[in-house]
Amino acid sequence: MENSHTRLAKTIHWTFSILYAYGIFKQVEDLEELEDASLLNFEIFFAIVFLVIVMLRFFYMKDAKTLLGAHEEMHKGHLFIAKATHRLVYFSLIMLPTTGLLIAGILNAGLPGMTLAIALHELSAFLSYITIGVHIVASLYSRYKGEGVWNAMVPLWQESKKNDSRIIVSLETIENKVYDQIEDKFIK
Ligand code: HEM
Ligand code: HEM
Repeated sequence: MENSHTRLAKTIHWTFSILYAYGIFKQVEDLEELEDASLLNFEIFFAIVFLVIVMLRFFYMKDAKTLLGAHEEMHKGHLFIAKATHRLVYFSLIMLPTTGLLIAGILNAGLPGMTLAIALHELSAFLSYITIGVHIVASLYSRYKGEGVWNAMVPLWQESKKNDSRIIVSLETIENKVYDQIEDKFIK
């Protein structure tokens, strides 16, 4: 039996991905929209639910092995980048609802600092696009290489074997040099 994330880990990963996509697509366009009290209340409710689920997920996954499904032992530099990206994803996902709630707080209490709160909110959204974009591209690349990582989290389009094509061998040689550098600079 190959290593796989638990059923609960997979369920949380995919239901949360849907919640994130919903949060991004239904986003508030500008501050004036929040004059509608029912929309403001809904945004506050959504932000709290989102934040609670992110925190629960973080604590549940904290001790799970990174790149769990890999058939071969992963380079330490590779694990370092994967872990750092996951941490940055969590950071952006915590900052998004927190800065959203900050906007709501400033609005309700009539306090100064709205421009800064909105800037932080937009920055958090931007960081989430970048880190989640990198995460998805890296997952697809790993799927192409047939490392086993994809199969441990994604139930669809499963890999059957390691890709040993010449292009992959050359790419892995370059990758290993980069991982060596990372190990030298950040791990040793
Ligand atoms: C097509 C979309 C996606 C694919 C193919 C994908 C794929 C994967 C894979 C293969 C893993 C396992 C990595 C490992 O074993 O270390 C993983 C973990 C993870 N994914 Fe995704 N993912 C997708 C979307 C997302 C989205 C939208 C988010 C955030 C909202 C996200 C956040 C994470 C995080 C934080 C982890 C680390 C494990 C955890 O804490 O749950 N992923 N993903
Ligand atoms: C999990 C919860 C939330 C998510 C995922 C989310 C997501 C987003 C995103 C993606 C944007 C567009 C940012 C950009 O232009 O790059 C945005 C804008 C905005 N959000 Fe949120 N948001 C959340 C909660 C909140 C809350 C609770 C409030 C306040 C009650 C809020 C108020 C705003 C406002 C006022 C803007 C427009 C900023 C502008 O003027 O450009 N958001 N939100």
